[in-house]
Amino acid sequence: MFQLTRSVTWQALERLRDKSYNDRIRDYFDRDPERFEKMSVRVGGLFLDYSKHHVSDEVLDKLLELADHSALVQRRAQMFSGDIINVTENRPVLHTALRNLGDTPVFVDGEDVMPEITRTRDQIKAFSEAVRSGEWKGYSGKPIKDVVNIGIGGSDLGPNMAVRALLKYRQAGLHFHFVSNVDGTHIQKVLSRLDPATTLFIVSTKTFSTQETLLNAKTARRWFVENAGDDADVGAHFIAASTNRKAAMAFGIREENVFEFWAWVGGRYSMWSSIGLPIALSIGFEGFIELLEGAHEMDRHFIEAPFAQNMPVLMALIGIWYINFIGAETQAIVPYDQALNQLPSFLQQLDMESNGKSVDIFGHPVNYKTGPIVWGQTGSNGQHAFFQLLHQGTRYVPIDFIASLKPEPGMEEHHFALLTNMLAQANAFMEGSHGEGQELSQDPYSCPGNRPSSTLLLDELTPKNLGALIALYEHKVFVQGVIWNINSFDQWGVQLGKRIAGEISERIDTNAADFDASTQGLLALVRKHFN
Ligand code: F6P
Repeated sequence: MFQLTRSVTWQALERLRDKSYNDRIRDYFDRDPERFEKMSVRVGGLFLDYSKHHVSDEVLDKLLELADHSALVQRRAQMFSGDIINVTENRPVLHTALRNLGDTPVFVDGEDVMPEITRTRDQIKAFSEAVRSGEWKGYSGKPIKDVVNIGIGGSDLGPNMAVRALLKYRQAGLHFHFVSNVDGTHIQKVLSRLDPATTLFIVSTKTFSTQETLLNAKTARRWFVENAGDDADVGAHFIAASTNRKAAMAFGIREENVFEFWAWVGGRYSMWSSIGLPIALSIGFEGFIELLEGAHEMDRHFIEAPFAQNMPVLMALIGIWYINFIGAETQAIVPYDQALNQLPSFLQQLDMESNGKSVDIFGHPVNYKTGPIVWGQTGSNGQHAFFQLLHQGTRYVPIDFIASLKPEPGMEEHHFALLTNMLAQANAFMEGSHGEGQELSQDPYSCPGNRPSSTLLLDELTPKNLGALIALYEHKVFVQGVIWNINSFDQWGVQLGKRIAGEISERIDTNAADFDASTQGLLALVRKHFN
């Protein structure tokens, strides 16, 4: 059986790691004045500089060889054409079809899914336009002013991140709220500010079975009925994005207001589907289409560009170099853009739920590290929080810096400061205190530098560029999953947590003697408050 770590390329990379371990990134620039030009790539409105990495030309060539020798070409073709690549759940993985705006058919079980996708997209168009124009009326005849998305995980993070990122394109007078946590204070706080007559709830749940979402939806429904009209009015204020039409209708949602999507759309890949409805409501259907176009452009690039110029492939390979050869445990995401403040959380789920696996696609344990711990927050805030550890701590953390170039009118001075701070940090991480002419060995308080980073620049934070950015990370995660030979599209660990939460709540009244002693003891303390 093929063993990744025994492959000639993997072993060559291990030797290169030993050989280049003490290299200084700075020296790579001295050796090659064209390194920046060579190690940067543009796709539409996105520009990636990957020159500040601890990656020599030799290492990059070997990493590209790793991709060449992997199943990437085949698996990529399988994903785009609807083959079953989520083997444990026996499903295709077709979020890319959702942003295929052409008429190329995509077959699942012999049936072209494109007509259904187009039909649902038309439904999103009609509905979002009706709400935005005020044509859609609540029970008392008033138009909608507040939209509350109730969902969690992929049914929250994508639309939440995108609506916030694109807030400047938002329809005036329409406000968006995202309730995800089962902690009742979350929904309570949101509801306390709302008028039921002008509020629309979107129950976003692929399965319509997630405890948190159902409980929040139930609480919202009760609040609505108590404060507004009666049960019969629920249909004018509650809609759903779900694959489970029956359960949504049983909740009181009108059949025509259940926005469908399909089992082959993974939760964390679902913002391109009906789960993206809040985005269409916020920035308009045209804006939503631009988002899809940007993602589609990245899809085309991912399919067509040779690996050596392929943005997601390059990002994935550099990540593999740090994870598997240098030993980095984490990947920091630092957007220098306040509008992207939800991006680290979104990417955390995308990457960690996808590649947090320790068995390969055949169920055999792997003997190498897989997905990184993804974390981060916006700069320049992060500079005053965790950057100290990154500069001088004992950890080795590659960073993705992300920013958009175009300033907001009137905010040029702020934007200039934002971008120069980011460039200064990326430079400081690489150069350390050497940039100031100090001798590192003589000063124990100097910064060692040689810390790697990528810089991703968006020409502007538009729906199109955001779509491309998210698709870029989706494909980066995919490429890594293929090279590690794992299934990036299931999430059995999360399912286990969901199941046990159900069991514990069902058995709150019993002794639950088969739980471990700690869980029993804690449950006894909890029980006192609920009898
Ligand atoms: O977190 C696990 C998960 O299954 C995600 O993949 C999904 O996005 C989330 O739960 C919510 O599930 P649902 O959309 O079915 O409510």
